[in-house]
Amino acid sequence: MSRIRVRFEPSGFEVHAEPGEAIMDITDANPAADVPYSCRAATCGTCRVEVVEGSEALSTADEFELEVLDIFGDTPDKVRLCCQTKLIGGADTQVTLRVCED
Ligand code: FES
Repeated sequence: MSRIRVRFEPSGFEVHAEPGEAIMDITDANPAADVPYSCRAATCGTCRVEVVEGSEALSTADEFELEVLDIFGDTPDKVRLCCQTKLIGGADTQVTLRVCED
């Protein structure tokens, strides 16, 4: 079975996850990942993370996520909303996400 290693920064928390899992479900189950949320519905941008590596293992951003990213001047190849993003696979893939500071 393919597993994806997901690392969160700056907390340094790492977890192995399965394709299809939502990032928000992973962080809800693991508060040590320390990703902030507010609306949980692609409105506020609180859960923005920089994709340090592994963007190919993330679901495609939909129009609602793209709209929020655009407000912050971000593009989905570099920044994603944790409340909207799922893992889509890639065996032995490393995904690293860094919480945006602003
Ligand atoms: S928590 Fe508001 S956009 Fe993700």
